[in-house]
Amino acid sequence: MNAQHVQWLNDYAPEILDAVVDAILTIDARGRIQSVNAAALRQFGYTESEMVGEPLAMLMPEPYRSAHQRFVDGYLATGEAKIIGIGRELEARAKDGTVFPIYLAVSEINTEEGTYFAGIIRDLTAEKAAEQALLEQRERLSQVARLSTMGEMTASIAHEINQPLTAISMYAQACVKLLQMDDLNREKLVDALTKLNRQALRAGAVIERIQRFVRHEDGERQLVDMNALVRDLSHLAAGDARLHGIELRFDLAEGLPNVFCDPIQVQQVALNLIRNAIDAMHEIGCRNGHVLQIGTRIVEGAAEGAVEVTVVDCGTGVAEEHMDLVFSAFHTTKQDGMGMGLSICRSIIEDHGGLLDFRNNDTCGCTFFFRLPVDGDE
Ligand SMILES: Nc1ncnc2c1ncn2[C@@H]1O[C@H](COP(=O)(O)OP(=O)(O)OP(=O)(O)O)[C@@H](O)[C@H]1O
Ligand SMILES: [Mg+2]
Repeated sequence: MNAQHVQWLNDYAPEILDAVVDAILTIDARGRIQSVNAAALRQFGYTESEMVGEPLAMLMPEPYRSAHQRFVDGYLATGEAKIIGIGRELEARAKDGTVFPIYLAVSEINTEEGTYFAGIIRDLTAEKAAEQALLEQRERLSQVARLSTMGEMTASIAHEINQPLTAISMYAQACVKLLQMDDLNREKLVDALTKLNRQALRAGAVIERIQRFVRHEDGERQLVDMNALVRDLSHLAAGDARLHGIELRFDLAEGLPNVFCDPIQVQQVALNLIRNAIDAMHEIGCRNGHVLQIGTRIVEGAAEGAVEVTVVDCGTGVAEEHMDLVFSAFHTTKQDGMGMGLSICRSIIEDHGGLLDFRNNDTCGCTFFFRLPVDGDE
């Protein structure tokens, strides 16, 4: 600084100090306030005479007050000022008792008369309020995100549990009817109860899988014979098909390699595709035919190959304007549809490293198919 600048600063020191927005206080070695600027009076609400000569601790609430006193005592004993030069966030207390957040920076001033300290205090109330508002906004946003995930989860749980529950109710009604008949057909009753039990176990397995999903664990993956899995399905889908006068026809390739997958999940996918196909055929009164074909085949070409499952129907087909929508959650053209089936199916298959897609057939209806990779190492 040149002499002219120093002179100017000297001349205008009181004006400069009072123009500063932060509170500036000087404190003597015993921790007593020695001078204050206008901002300090504004921040704390005291008059100058109420502050000067008083301990700085009067501006602090506990526990800072005691800590400060220990600090001053320590300084007096050792001559070592621990927080000099280091700014830190603390709390201050105004005359009316209001406690507010501050940023305090302290520096040492050595004069001929001894050591003093200058404290610069910035009121952080506005900053903290803005921070808090931001935090609250983030919290609200993440709550919205959690709610929508929960909403989707609930929809998918309802979807997957509803299918076995409907079946259980149907079998239970059938049992009641059988029991009401004069000549009790034990064989039929046992058959219906066995099927009912299978559906109950299925619902249980679905719940278990959802619990695993919530815990972010992988499902029970194992080497699975796709043909056996599809054949197993015929029991599950046959009732529905028969109800609509539809015949399930299986065309299973021989010598399929096993696929490493969660059989319950994959069966759920195939069942959803079959249910959709039945709906599409039923919607047009099966006027294009009554046969629903379910096939398996090996897809050559990919490094290790893949196993493909196809569901070929002769139903409505997918309208041009819906082509891009069928896999979107909540897209449905059905009165009582939820539009969740295919979006869940696709996420299951993609989770297995496979793909799920469809094409409209040349003649009528469409073909939905999924492929699961055959891992050479498995
Ligand atoms: N085989 C098919 N033939 C024609 N359209 C189909 C077929 N499969 C699906 N779709 C169309 O895709 C839509 C979405 O199917 P998705 O399975 O996701 O839901 P949904 O069957 O309507 O309801 P839900 O959630 O109960 O399964 C259906 O509403 C239908 O318009
Ligand atoms: Mg569906």
